[in-house]
Amino acid sequence: LFGTMEVKENTLYIGGVNTEELRKNYGTPLYVMDEVAIETQMQTFTTHFSSNTFESRVLYASKAFLNLYIAGLAKKNNLFIDVVSGGELFTVLRAGFNPKKIYFHGNNKTYDELNFAIEENVGTIILDNQYEYEMLNGLLNEKDKTQRVMVRVNPDIDTDTHKYIQTTKEDSKFGFNMYKDETMTFIKTLEADDRIDFVGIHCHIGSQIFDDASFYLEAKKMAEYAKQLKEALGREVEEINLGGGFGVYYTAGDTPLDLTEFLPKYTAHIESVFQEYGISPKIVSIEPGRSMVNNFGSTLYTVGAIKKMAEDLTFMLVDGGMNDNMRPAMYEAKYEAYLANKMNEAPSAHYKVAGKLCETGDVLIEDVQLPEAAPGDLLITPSTGAYAYSMSSNYNRMTRPAVVFVKDGETKVAVRRETYEDLIRNDEVME
Ligand code: LLP
Repeated sequence: LFGTMEVKENTLYIGGVNTEELRKNYGTPLYVMDEVAIETQMQTFTTHFSSNTFESRVLYASKAFLNLYIAGLAKKNNLFIDVVSGGELFTVLRAGFNPKKIYFHGNNKTYDELNFAIEENVGTIILDNQYEYEMLNGLLNEKDKTQRVMVRVNPDIDTDTHKYIQTTKEDSKFGFNMYKDETMTFIKTLEADDRIDFVGIHCHIGSQIFDDASFYLEAKKMAEYAKQLKEALGREVEEINLGGGFGVYYTAGDTPLDLTEFLPKYTAHIESVFQEYGISPKIVSIEPGRSMVNNFGSTLYTVGAIKKMAEDLTFMLVDGGMNDNMRPAMYEAKYEAYLANKMNEAPSAHYKVAGKLCETGDVLIEDVQLPEAAPGDLLITPSTGAYAYSMSSNYNRMTRPAVVFVKDGETKVAVRRETYEDLIRNDEVME
């Protein structure tokens, strides 16, 4: 079990809070976030990614899970933050994030988003393409401003992860190919532009990566490119951003990196490749999203019908589904589950856990062994802290679940459950 979970009298507690009480007070489906565990993880990153030769920055990749509450926690724990849209930017600004600590990503920022970012004095904009630069240049001229800028480059590294979340293969839509002359030409254009403060390069090699060699190779390729830049520009780049992608545990067989061990090794590796290539950037940043939150968030569901279809196929139907966690349907992602109200009972039955949406693919878990279940039981899927809430939808006019944070026996609502009224808030009546 993860974070601060424990079992008392057959029932699961998270952060000292009884999951049955959570159901009673907030209903299901419910996202439950373990605040102490998340803060501890934030500190694990900032403590262990730390160097004597460069300033290390940890940016929370907010797409993994974002609302005002988590942005507040990131701020409290001195993180920087990565946003990829006007909506994410708006959210972190409203949470009181220092604009200077915001990095604005995205592979097709719109004019309005760039305008918003400049108006709000966002610290760093990471350019993904030429068109963004043209718009940015126009806006900066108009507003008589300058902007700190990085460029996303693509080192073409093959990573062992689901193809939908690989990002640096040659055919990926993201960034500039590191090995094309036009990329260097583009950077020289930025360097010559007085309104642009070109500070460095960014890359992100993919997500849910277990193999540390991929990260080491990435650091080496980035150092190599920084050396070429140093020669071409006649100066050091100030910052190198190595992205996120650190894999986490979902089910047996997943072998995540032990961060307390990996991060110091990673730091040492970065220092050594910098030395090898004769570069000394002032700042190195990383951008973890999933690994910051995933294992410290769970989803609670109430079990409805149990349908035995065949000797070896029994459906357990829950009151949520692919609208609150689309990862199984989209990536064939695997999850574990427990009956939070029967924690001491031995697993004796197999279930296929499915949701209540009108899709055959609305399956949360293909096969899980659980105690004998009945309608009304409380199912929990741990490891749903990242990319579940943030990718949730209103498909079938499902209302999005509430998000609560638990800590030391106390519960705080971070996001209220959507209501039916919320569903029609922006609808116009047909006359
Ligand atoms: N930085 C950049 C530029 C990114 O594109 C991403 C993720 C991250 C950082 C954070 O990566 P992480 O540490 O979370 O792996 N929806 C998919 C994941 C998509 C990730 C996209 N980019 C999923 O549910 O698996």
